[in-house]
Amino acid sequence: DSGVPLIKAGALTTCTHLPYAPFQAKDASGKVVGFDVALIDLVATKLAVTQEIIDTPFEGIKSGADLNSGKCDVAAAGMTITDERKKVLDFSDPYFDATQALAVQTGKEVKTLEELAGKRVGTQGGTTGEDYIKKQVEEKKLDIEVVSYKDLAALQQALATNQVAAAVNDLPVWNEYIKANPGKVVVAAGFDTGEQYGFAVKKGNAELLKTVNEALAAARADGKYDEIYKTWIGE
Ligand code: ARG
Repeated sequence: DSGVPLIKAGALTTCTHLPYAPFQAKDASGKVVGFDVALIDLVATKLAVTQEIIDTPFEGIKSGADLNSGKCDVAAAGMTITDERKKVLDFSDPYFDATQALAVQTGKEVKTLEELAGKRVGTQGGTTGEDYIKKQVEEKKLDIEVVSYKDLAALQQALATNQVAAAVNDLPVWNEYIKANPGKVVVAAGFDTGEQYGFAVKKGNAELLKTVNEALAAARADGKYDEIYKTWIGE
């Protein structure tokens, strides 16, 4: 026994919002795998328990509701560390850098948001991508209708079926989609939002946070982080 208090005996429960490949998604057999899953597995190993993943809407994760109500011990959801979220969650050290990107169907490239005047742009509800595009539309007074989808799969489906002219989400997620669906979509523009992902625990759970940070530091030191990066993100 590690002495770190956990909600359920023998398990490290992880809240996430599927799908979010390459960070967390079901493989062909239905098992949830990915970059975040592999890193949290290292935390579970350190605690001598197994990771148990709970799929739940992103809203409850980022608002702190799930962690603070005891639905799970840790959140691992390709979640960007923001000042607002820091008020309701305690974040680990950053484990991944990301930016926002605009994806369009191949052959329908645009370089700027201005070129999307009169069109619909899709985004994933509750995310930093949604915040970013809404802010751009407001500040630049763009004639764009922002449409929010409940998860990444719904957003990508909307783009594939022309319900939206373009879609905003994190760049690594588009890179993965393009790898899995070659030739269908391209990243038309990038927005340098300078985001960093963090794992989160319930506010005040210093013991678990310390274990998460120690596992991350050890993985960076012993090459496991690089191995996991190669497996899920690429070279
Ligand atoms: N990085 C973005 C954010 O924090 C998107 C995360 C969405 N994650 C997910 N598992 N659905 O808002």
